[in-house]
Formats: sequence, C-alpha cells, structure tokens
Amino acid sequence: MTKYFTEEASVEAVNGRMAANIDPRAREVMTLLVKHLHAFIKEAQISQQEWESVVGFLTETGKICSQERQEFILLSDTLGVSMLVDAINNRRQPGATENTVLGPFHVAGAPGRAMGECITLDGKGESCLFEGTVVDLDGHPIEGAIIDVWSDNAEGFYDVQQPDIQPKWNNRGTFVTGADGRYSFVGIKPVSYPIPDDGPVGQMLKYLGRHPYRPAHMHYIVMATGFQKVVTHTFVGDDSYLSSDAVFGVKATLIAPYQRVVDGDTEWRSPFNFVLNLLVSTRN
Ligand code: BEZ
Ligand code: FE
Repeated sequence: MTKYFTEEASVEAVNGRMAANIDPRAREVMTLLVKHLHAFIKEAQISQQEWESVVGFLTETGKICSQERQEFILLSDTLGVSMLVDAINNRRQPGATENTVLGPFHVAGAPGRAMGECITLDGKGESCLFEGTVVDLDGHPIEGAIIDVWSDNAEGFYDVQQPDIQPKWNNRGTFVTGADGRYSFVGIKPVSYPIPDDGPVGQMLKYLGRHPYRPAHMHYIVMATGFQKVVTHTFVGDDSYLSSDAVFGVKATLIAPYQRVVDGDTEWRSPFNFVLNLLVSTRN
C-alpha cells in the first residue's frame, strides 16, 4: 500500500524515496540528516513564519557569497560546526599539537623566506620574534617541515582584505626547517579583530547577542612528509576574547607565551614548539 506523507511518518516517507542502488555513504548520511532535521522541526515546533525567515536568511547567505567571500563557511564557523568537523577528523595522540579552524584568509603560495626573516612589510605593529622547533612525538627534530604562517596587521586586517592598502604578502611567509627542526621569523604581536560581520552571519550574531571578535592569533600550517598536517594558530595569552572567540577556535594548548624583550631586536618574543603526529588513520 502506498505510504503518503504524514506528520508521524515524515522520516520514513522521505527516506523511503531513495533508490536502492545509490552510494552507501550518501544513503547513510542523508538518512541521518532527514531523521535529525525532522526531529528538530518537530521538537522546536517550527512555525511557518520561522521557516520563511530561515529560507530568507539562507537566500541572503548565498547571495553574498563570491570568489572572495564564503558566508556559508562563516555560518559553519560561528555555529561551531567547522570546529566539530575538524575535531572529528583530526584526533591526535596526547602531546601532538592540536588543530584549529583554517579561516578564510589563507592564501596558498606565500613567499618562501629564510629563517629569522621578517614577514611584516607595512612597518606597522609591535615586532615579535616567533621561534621554536618542529618535533615528532618522541621529541626528535623534523627536518624539511614546511611552516606556512599568516596574521592580520596591526589594524586587524589581513592583506587580502585591503589589497589597495597593504603590500601583497604582508604578514605571510613560508619557512623550511633544517636538520635541527628549528624555525624562527619576525612578525608582529597579532591583534584581535572582528570576523566579516556586514552580512547575514553578522546579523545573526547581533540577534543572538554575540560579538564578532576573534582573540589575537598567528596562523600556522605545519607539514612534513610522513606526518599529519597541522592547521592551527597560536593565541596571545592575555587577550580578552580568549573565552568568547566568535568561531570557537581556542584550545588551551594553543595559548602561547608572549614575552616582553628588554634588550633585543624585537619588542616581543613568542616561543612555541610544534609536535607532529605520524600519519596514521585515527578515525574509528
Ligand atoms: C581567521 O582566523 O582568519 C578566521 C577564522 C574563521 C572565520 C573568520 C576568520
Ligand atoms: Fe585569523
């Protein structure tokens, strides 16, 4: 007998339409999506008006997306979804450096620089020496590790947000470790900044009584052959937004010391060691 759609049997009605020969993973994921989505709508007793505002919100989110702006990722970030997917897919052994959110401002192909070189090209901000080692879980230095770094400038903007104001590749660079596994570069002590909040996600944050700020951080991607890639930040320890990061990226192990330098070439020094996990599947 044909099963028509009813409130009670809504999940079975929709999931029952899937063809028998589809991809098994697509079946698994879509079955769960429909199950949980319908359960949510039933539990929340979503009104017609609420449904219309969600459709309107998602429409505006799509409209603002462009080559330079990905509002859906920002939505995922601010709802904690990006960090949750990242956590599930990057479980590591204790002691290995943890991942955090990539963010929209990474640019592939940043200039390779010599150890100790300065990445700040606009001359602004408080200078900071970033240094440490890239090691494996036994503490052995990793040679040939690639460290890709980027940060905002002293005014809280990435170079790509201000292409007519900042020099290209300002506060970006890549470094390759030698046999000692050591890295060092000069940048600035990063500052906190708001995520792009002039679109639907910004409106959502306002509506929820949330601010759009991220605590100050330096971004890193650390890669080495045979090891899991680490996409992470180091955070400035005294930042007032550490406990309310708009995208939930803060982890206690990623808060780095920022020490005042009394007699040196930079105003600050921030030591941090990266510990890489061997490349093995950690998914169970
Ligand atoms: C960032 O840290 O660059 C970032 C991360 C998520 C959303 C917006 C910005
Ligand atoms: Fe950032």
